[in-house]
Amino acid sequence: MTLFGSDAQLRDRVNGLLASMSLEQKIGQMVMAERSTCSPEDVRNFHLGAVLCGSGSHPEENTPAAWVKMNDAYWAAAMAAGPGHVAIPTLFGVDAIHGHCNVSGATVFPHNIGLGAAADAGLVRRIAQITAREVLASGIEWTFAPNLAVARNICWGRSYESVGEQVRPVVDFARAAVEGLQGDLGENAVLACAKHWVGDGGNAHGIDHGNNPAELEALREIDMAPYLAALEAGVLTIMASFNSWKGEKCHGHKFLLTDILKGELQFKGMLISDWEGTTYLSDDYHSAVGQAVNAGIDMFMVPESWHRFIESLHQHALNGSVSMTRINNAVRRILAVKIAYGLFERPRPAARPWSNHPSFGCAEHRNLAREAVRKSLVLLQNRNSVLPLDKTARLLVAGKNAHNRGHLCGGFSIEWQGVSGNEQIPGATSIWEGVQALAANASLSEDPLGGDADPQQHDVALVVVGEYPYAEGLGDVRLNEQMMVETGSQMSGAMIVREPYGRTLELCQLHPEDLQLISNIAAKGIPVVTVLVSGRPLVVNRELEKSVAFVAAWLPGSEGLGVAEVLFGDYDFQGRLPFSWPRTDADAGAQDQPGFTPLFPYGYGLSYQGMLEENTSANGSRLRKTLRRLALRR
Ligand code: GLC
Repeated sequence: MTLFGSDAQLRDRVNGLLASMSLEQKIGQMVMAERSTCSPEDVRNFHLGAVLCGSGSHPEENTPAAWVKMNDAYWAAAMAAGPGHVAIPTLFGVDAIHGHCNVSGATVFPHNIGLGAAADAGLVRRIAQITAREVLASGIEWTFAPNLAVARNICWGRSYESVGEQVRPVVDFARAAVEGLQGDLGENAVLACAKHWVGDGGNAHGIDHGNNPAELEALREIDMAPYLAALEAGVLTIMASFNSWKGEKCHGHKFLLTDILKGELQFKGMLISDWEGTTYLSDDYHSAVGQAVNAGIDMFMVPESWHRFIESLHQHALNGSVSMTRINNAVRRILAVKIAYGLFERPRPAARPWSNHPSFGCAEHRNLAREAVRKSLVLLQNRNSVLPLDKTARLLVAGKNAHNRGHLCGGFSIEWQGVSGNEQIPGATSIWEGVQALAANASLSEDPLGGDADPQQHDVALVVVGEYPYAEGLGDVRLNEQMMVETGSQMSGAMIVREPYGRTLELCQLHPEDLQLISNIAAKGIPVVTVLVSGRPLVVNRELEKSVAFVAAWLPGSEGLGVAEVLFGDYDFQGRLPFSWPRTDADAGAQDQPGFTPLFPYGYGLSYQGMLEENTSANGSRLRKTLRRLALRR
């Protein structure tokens, strides 16, 4: 069963269902509500097509069993046919973007920036397959992943959701992730959702929800290219983007959503909105609904406003401002995806083969995550070959991110903005816990300023620094006032200006405690190995100067042991920079400017044997010629 062939059987089945549906049922299928705003009875009474758990939302008991029970109730309500209700199973979606990171005890993989450093498509495919199994273990069917942004400005708070600033790695990632998640659409598969269409990685100044000013050719060559790969891999759902293109919001952009994606690129699946994405189109909600539906969005993620959405679209349908042709086309796509995924034939969530499977968060899955961590680490400096560390050395481990599993996971982990501490990430290892497992003479500093560092007791210090968790616009860095002005997102008439993470990429200004700690320990004559835990490269000139070795660890997830294994030489470094590393704030987003001289170039990385060879395959120029030919051929 496929969407992409001229599948008469699929078409007849869809048309048969459509013919049996009332206008209310059709409109209901176009609605995705949130678990906290809709009950199974609502699903039944309003014929809702899907439910989601937003990042951080979960059943009271945050266990796979409780998730299975939750979705089983929604599914049962949807499938209880009766007068005025056609039995159509709901889809349940979640942001399983680096493992099933909403659920306690899940295997949490490195965020995409780390996978970009690892540059291993086979690893991505295996991670996606295991993520699918842990999603299925919780009884749900759909993840809002992969994120296919080609992030060009590391001021963006979602840089860590991108595998890098060059197109080719994101293209390879797209194919591997969709193939790993959806496979043959059989019982081991979940639905993937390529996001966000289109161009959020190219917003001016890296402003989340901001404006991508690129010309169409560049939008095709860079931001659309990964979607070609995702479409070839058979992705069945795509999410529209919050950003604007040349000043016009993607959620209302018919040319991008319908003419290009559905027309020129022949996407036959389901296009969904982002979280209340419609409300950014106008301060008049009803007008915004009409614009978004007519632009080509098929299913609407309307957690807060789904009652209003239903009323509004019903009005549009009755007065013809949204045609029945458009509504029927949207519902056909939704039904086709559900049929192609075999949703009608699958047992109820509680009876599915993977539901409550004991492999959830198991050692085998964590071993894969540890492999990913090892491959993601980038060695930027190693004076006097201080690395690898000796396992018998008297090692002092310090820094705010040394023993904090939550900080290793970053945003979209248990909570939308992530968590701090260790309790909420069970089954995991912090970097300190990883060191403890390998080195008997290591000790954990209790003093945030390094007052307990003593050259008589410590041969070397491992200082783990960096950012706190963040997600989306709350992770943006705004370098100047102009960016503050452009930040505003219009939502139902209110200008939303989110407080940014900071006003600079300089770590010593964002987190002065880190340089203070490194300096205090180094001043005692103890060599400092610094590990940076962050969602992006930062300006770290002063921290580098005080450190004998420096490692970019990105956001490694639940398996901090993987960091320790490489630091002690059980494995060598192999990671290469997926983003150019800035010398100053001015380098952010400046890759294509003449004279751009970052501190470390894209693709840079050291191993214990010295410089890793240049990764020529990521050469953007040759690829651009190929992509231009591709785009013109369509
Ligand atoms: C968020 C994100 C999107 C996510 C969705 C559901 O706003 O933009 O990536 O999938 O909401 O949580």
